[in-house]
Amino acid sequence: MTSWHHLSSDWLNWADQLAPAAQKINRHLIKALDLPALAQTAKDRELSMLDLASGVGEPAFGIARMLAGDADNDGNVGDAPLRGHVIASDIVPGMCAGLAERAGAEGLANLSVVAADMEKLPFGPSSIDAISCRFGVMFCSDPDLALRESNRVLRSGGRAAFMLWAPMADNPLFCAMDAVLSNILGTGFADTGLDLFGFADADGACARMRDAGFSNVSLSNHKPAGRIPERAAFWKPQMEMLFGHHLRDASDSARGTIDGAMFEALRPHIDDGYFRVPMCFHVLSGRKP
Ligand SMILES: C[S@@+](CC[C@H](N)C(=O)[O-])C[C@H]1O[C@@H](n2cnc3c(N)ncnc32)[C@H](O)[C@@H]1O
Repeated sequence: MTSWHHLSSDWLNWADQLAPAAQKINRHLIKALDLPALAQTAKDRELSMLDLASGVGEPAFGIARMLAGDADNDGNVGDAPLRGHVIASDIVPGMCAGLAERAGAEGLANLSVVAADMEKLPFGPSSIDAISCRFGVMFCSDPDLALRESNRVLRSGGRAAFMLWAPMADNPLFCAMDAVLSNILGTGFADTGLDLFGFADADGACARMRDAGFSNVSLSNHKPAGRIPERAAFWKPQMEMLFGHHLRDASDSARGTIDGAMFEALRPHIDDGYFRVPMCFHVLSGRKP
């Protein structure tokens, strides 16, 4: 976990540039929360929403915009705009500071930032309508405790949705990154202590969610592939956001070698001048009985 403390500046550097692509995949997570149905149950009360391991803002920002009460929002219930407040949270103070800075710059009035370890949430039982978490729970030292904590703070009928990486073998970008960095810098995912794939097994992930007390557990699998000009070193954001502290120590020549090796490793995915590299993830969701 400690490595995240060294990476908040990398996350902040890339956040605005990656936001449009993030929103495209976030819609699967948001759909699994079924916020319009929760709003109907909540009647006149505003929804209270918690985003865990928010990093510097995904998907908390998109959900806050959706719950801002704008009449022209996609998720509205009939004529009634969706209204609610989002608590964005992360265990790393630098991530929370970046989050707060970006939320202030956008003027998001219905989003607040709370530094929180998702294994020990600073919220009372049955106080939250919905929980989102994008690529976060697998990094906890005890992910099952984090799932139980989510269940504890949800109201009865509330929903939680977790975005999780599918197996590394289905994610060519991560395969390439792990092999190239292990080869050139002597550090891959295993060395950094980043267990990206702890929920990659779909049946196992569903069982863990049920064990944490959730009902109506379901998992959907997604495999989008962008269309990126072959000249673009599109791996740089992900690589810096996961290995930035190692790359900062690398020489210019080593960084050049890394880019060359990444291009070669991903070359089989070039089609007609464009990279078409699939990313494969799951959305795991459940309801508190
Ligand atoms: C891959 S990033 C995801 C950030 C963001 N959700 C996104 O998708 O852009 C993982 C985040 O999990 C946070 N994290 C790791 N362990 C945590 C814990 N126990 N409680 C809360 N956040 C944690 C890290 O600080 C980091 O910001």
